[in-house]
Amino acid sequence: MAMAELSAPKTTSTFLNSSSRLRLSSKLHLSNHFRHLLLPPLHTAPNSKFSCSVSQNQAPVAVQENGLAKTKKECYGVFCLTYDLKAEEQTKSWKKLINIAVSGAAGMISNHLLFKLASGAVFGPDQPIALKLLGSERSIQALEGVAMELEDSLFPLLREVDIGTDPYEVFQDVEWAILIGAKPRGPGMERADLLDINGQIFAEQGKALNKVASPDVKVLVVGNPCNTNALICLKNAPNIPAKNFHALTRLDENRAKCQLALKAGVFYDKVSNMTIWGNHSTTQVPDFLNAKINGLPVKEVITDHKWLEEGFTESVQKRGGLLIQKWGRSSAASTAVSIVDAIKSLVTPTPEGDWFSTGVYTDGNPYGIEEGLVFSMPCRSKGDGDYELVKDVEIDDYLRKRIAKSEAELLAEKRCVAHLTGEGIAYCDLGPVDTMLPGEV
Ligand code: LMR
Repeated sequence: MAMAELSAPKTTSTFLNSSSRLRLSSKLHLSNHFRHLLLPPLHTAPNSKFSCSVSQNQAPVAVQENGLAKTKKECYGVFCLTYDLKAEEQTKSWKKLINIAVSGAAGMISNHLLFKLASGAVFGPDQPIALKLLGSERSIQALEGVAMELEDSLFPLLREVDIGTDPYEVFQDVEWAILIGAKPRGPGMERADLLDINGQIFAEQGKALNKVASPDVKVLVVGNPCNTNALICLKNAPNIPAKNFHALTRLDENRAKCQLALKAGVFYDKVSNMTIWGNHSTTQVPDFLNAKINGLPVKEVITDHKWLEEGFTESVQKRGGLLIQKWGRSSAASTAVSIVDAIKSLVTPTPEGDWFSTGVYTDGNPYGIEEGLVFSMPCRSKGDGDYELVKDVEIDDYLRKRIAKSEAELLAEKRCVAHLTGEGIAYCDLGPVDTMLPGEV
């Protein structure tokens, strides 16, 4: 990531305490006020030596002796302390630092998510992380506030925080990218317009990931319409395996488990094997045929099958909309929790016999779903960040019909963004019924 010295207006770096560092990297010109907030003056004691180091696996990134910068990257004042992680007993068993990018980092979902990531609740208590926060130019001050709160939380595992507005800088070497930032659908905006506007964001971010991220980066797309955004992103990142891209449908899985548990009068940890098929929209298919409660087929435990087919299915499909009615805005905390769950499902082995749902690339799927889509399906993981599709899930006529509807919707969305996926001229025929989630309206 390109960094500049203190006097340069375009990019700056600052280190805020001994256990982590905050670096601002932005194409913005920083106002004096902004610089004052971020960059404390040098208070370098004579003959003092400062070096900044963030992980046991990295050489110090900046060294300053007797007030004279030895490298281009500077340390600042009392915040730039010498410390050596190798000598810290607690860190000896820690894994190598990983870089995690989060876009839309100044938004509500991120505000819940970032603190969970930094606490170790996602990647584990021995996994130090660096957070790379991407925001828009409008949100750069808010991003700074987020970074300050992260600093003030004194998370031992959080070794570095970078904030910036340029994905080509922020995504440098990231091993995980959680893409949350997307434009919400405004009043009167056509669905095709939203697909185009957000598609452009994800096309650009795909290109940036392709160029600067770790070649095996795992990408989780949260910004809606997340399936098609994930498709656009992966099509613009040909060097990254398509398998590494996910669209978040774990929130839908969690919602479905909650509804089934409520109806059956059991605690929700008794519900397993919950598949969400298809698009994260109101055509999604929560699969009660294969789900289990206490290890038994749901249909044996819940005998009100009419409720399963209608009440349950609709309640999951429209849960996001109902929440907006009550809460006045889209889900944020539960979305963040479901992002945590989605990542944990990939970095921890799936319990024997169970599976989880995630939107993945359909090439090679055993269910006859059209290839070249991002479609939610049942998956399992060995805990290595990768996954395999569960291949033997039963699909009856009820499921087949509904899965086909969600598939048709995704195919229509795909045609509508063909100009962004390199597949020719876009043709938008999204049908008369608007099936997008209400939060997008
Ligand atoms: C949700 O499912 O709660 C959100 O994706 C809804 C939305 O449109 O923001």
